[in-house]
Amino acid sequence: MNLREKVDAGNLPRHIAVIMDGNGRWAKQKGGLRIFGHQSAITAVRETVEAAAELGVEYLTLYAFSTENWSRPALEVSALMQLLVSTIRKETATLNKNNIRLQTIGDTNSLPASCQKELREAIEITKDNTRMTLVLALSYSGRWDITQAAQRLAMDVAKGVVAASDVTEKSFEQYLSTAGMPDPELLVRTSGEQRISNFLLWQLAYTEFYITDLLWPDFRKEHLYEAIISFQQRERRFGKTSEQLIK
Ligand code: IPE
Ligand code: IPE
Ligand code: MG
Repeated sequence: MNLREKVDAGNLPRHIAVIMDGNGRWAKQKGGLRIFGHQSAITAVRETVEAAAELGVEYLTLYAFSTENWSRPALEVSALMQLLVSTIRKETATLNKNNIRLQTIGDTNSLPASCQKELREAIEITKDNTRMTLVLALSYSGRWDITQAAQRLAMDVAKGVVAASDVTEKSFEQYLSTAGMPDPELLVRTSGEQRISNFLLWQLAYTEFYITDLLWPDFRKEHLYEAIISFQQRERRFGKTSEQLIK
């Protein structure tokens, strides 16, 4: 039985989030520049998107550029931005053909104008697609997300649209950039680092983590299957006892 057949189609995560890490180390191992690692990561992105859509995952969120990544050398940042533009330009038709909708989360106003334009167009072209939503986290951080949510909520309270005493977890979530999406059930991180790196802090409250030592450019469909199979073997207790879960 191949790995894909071992995935239980009846127990799929609706939302998978991925911290795509290790491009720089991958390039270094090959004696190349960091940007070579980023370029080589496109295949891994394509494979992961395809595999998730084929399985029937509803949301796939990829951490592509964090708020903190702006502090990298200017040359690396601009190369990443150019790569983003050229990849979106190349891949939008395929996304559309595969009925995949593109969305972004993050402070996208801080991206270069060319990136914003390319993203706007791709989001518009794919907006009615229904098979899967691919969410790119760009200039994203969990603290940014919670802060912008608090700011917009405070404005609504000031306007009298919302009463402070009515704020609940459910109503607060509607101000987060992920409003309307289920929380990720599974988080995959490559390159072995055991940290969240300011990703979806609120949304990962009860997410199952799958960390692999594989560097992101080497990630393929079978590795996503492995992550999902591992997820399907976990007991998700949400604070209850094991006994309580047996119906
Ligand atoms: C992930 O790979 C890509 C981005 C953060 C943009 P890295 O560039 O972080 O690669 P490492 O972690 O230095 O190997
Ligand atoms: C996390 O990777 C951000 C992305 C994958 C976009 P980093 O490489 O920036 O994380 P740290 O600095 O190792 O925590
Ligand atoms: Mg890294």
